[in-house]
Amino acid sequence: IRRITVPQIRARKGGDPIVSLTAYHAHTAAIAEKYCDFLLVGDSLGMVMHGMESTVGVSLDLMIMHGKAVVRGTKRALVVVDMPFGSYEESPAQAFRNAAKIMKETQCQAVKLEGGARMAETIKFLSGRGIPVMAHIGLTPQSTNIMGGFKTQGRDEDDWQFHIDDAKAVAEAGAFALVVEGVVEPLADKITKAVEIPTIGIGASKTCDGQILVMEDMLGLNDWVPKFVKKFGAVGAAIEDAIADYAEDVKSRAFPTPENVYKNK
Ligand code: KIV
Ligand code: NA
Repeated sequence: IRRITVPQIRARKGGDPIVSLTAYHAHTAAIAEKYCDFLLVGDSLGMVMHGMESTVGVSLDLMIMHGKAVVRGTKRALVVVDMPFGSYEESPAQAFRNAAKIMKETQCQAVKLEGGARMAETIKFLSGRGIPVMAHIGLTPQSTNIMGGFKTQGRDEDDWQFHIDDAKAVAEAGAFALVVEGVVEPLADKITKAVEIPTIGIGASKTCDGQILVMEDMLGLNDWVPKFVKKFGAVGAAIEDAIADYAEDVKSRAFPTPENVYKNK
């Protein structure tokens, strides 16, 4: 197998930090995989790429379309595709049917789904039948309508045990890794210590076994980003500068230049 494998990611528990990003397209995925162990085709693409207000409206077909693009654009990184809201919660059988469809059509190596103890039975069902599952606990964006927005979890210590139990339940059920999103730092530390599978933090803690960010956020493509994002680039500003220069050159007929036009014989 030419790609990084699920067992290789699983074996990184407590080792060198796992580097990962979301990826939605062939071209950016090809750049990212030079540095990332795995790429996540996150359902955040509904908000980031398609202007939706939450991830609730993302369809299976949309995930498959972007999943195909990322798999085609890459050779080395493990590719994980998010299961969208409504495609897995009903029953283990529904989850298997849709996860298998994602894997067959995109050729990705694993799927991710949101939920802790309540999804344990489903995670066991899938991982026992050839589908590696990455779990996702803490702030689970598909539950935004229950939470009343994206709310950091574990601000109240009384809630910690609930999240620790979620982590243990998904690990026990056979998840190969666990995204821990939007929890207070000491809770993320406790979760990482509580399970023998790697934790992948986002808005969590540097002690997680790996980190993930939404690529567009860390690139600086959006003006506003949440506190947990560090902007490593200013790509939005770079795009705007280039487009402004282009518009100016078109209007002044400075573009196309002699090098940009074809000559006859
Ligand atoms: O959809 C997504 O981008 C995610 C990551 C933020 C973990 O689930
Ligand atoms: Na997601």
